[in-house]
Amino acid sequence: MEKQVLENQTMVIEFILLGFGDISALHILLFLVVLMIYMLTMVGNILIVALVVTDQRFHTPMYYFLGNLSCLESCYSSTILPRMLASFVTGNRSISLTGCFLQMYFFGSLAATECFLLSAMSYDRYLAICKPLHYTTLMKSRDCLYLVTGSWISGFLGNTILFPLLQLAFCGPNEIDHFFCDFNPLLKLACSDTHHIIILAFMVACIVTLPPFLLTMSSYVWIIGTILKIPSSIGRKKAFSTCSSHLIVVTIFYGSLMIVYMLPDTQMLRDLNKLFSALYTVLTPMVNPLIYSLRNKEVKQALKKIQEKIIQARFLS
Ligand SMILES: *[C@@H]1O[C@H](CO)[C@@H](O)[C@H](O)[C@H]1NC(C)=O
Repeated sequence: MEKQVLENQTMVIEFILLGFGDISALHILLFLVVLMIYMLTMVGNILIVALVVTDQRFHTPMYYFLGNLSCLESCYSSTILPRMLASFVTGNRSISLTGCFLQMYFFGSLAATECFLLSAMSYDRYLAICKPLHYTTLMKSRDCLYLVTGSWISGFLGNTILFPLLQLAFCGPNEIDHFFCDFNPLLKLACSDTHHIIILAFMVACIVTLPPFLLTMSSYVWIIGTILKIPSSIGRKKAFSTCSSHLIVVTIFYGSLMIVYMLPDTQMLRDLNKLFSALYTVLTPMVNPLIYSLRNKEVKQALKKIQEKIIQARFLS
């Protein structure tokens, strides 16, 4: 009986991403702000990747991790922002079912990879601060390579769990109340049974986020414990400076992620939810390079050198 009803209805092949609602008056302003954010994100992150790849001084595990993180973050915002910018220009807010699915898959995979990578980075800081004498033997380039490739592979493999979503039927309405195709808003529109997918996705989400989160937390508990035991305040400051930027990044990322997925889904909180989604999808990738380049002496020096070179080149031409 139910099946017949499904067959009689027209299937949705396209969704409308409602974005931030009907604010056509602010379109140009919003376009400029998002464009600015996107450009800053790309420039900052590509600059860090370029530094890590080209500068001999940055050929250490800590910077390999940072380079990979920056590479990841530029992909991360590219899954969301260019489409958003295009829809501001054309006024066309529709996205195909496949497009929607691809966006969700890549976004989810990159977010999972970020969780793994952040925990690998905090483990690296744990070794450097709590086991300084053994650091070089415990974290060789090869170990770093394993951790990095492991993060990328598990992130993308874990999200293949989303493939059954392709078989769901959508029979309308087709409006997604979000600015990108996220799992929950999309699933709400399905008219076939989503029970199994929800349970499966919940399990995978736990496996993907909980262990890295706990690993990151415990690394920092050990790190802070060790730092507090350092007798001189100069030594304490120095040890803390090597991990403080990472701690800030981790806090912003997990903090907004938790708020988005743990808050109850009520109409009133929906807009707040969008705001926090914007925090970890749009803002984190933009501020990471800033945090690292402003707080890290070596990165600061390298950037200054590049700046000097550019000025010199202009002078000569
Ligand atoms: C990512 O990590 C690998 C393995 O350590 C390293 O060889 C590579 O240079 C890193 N990539 C970037 C862009 O930093």
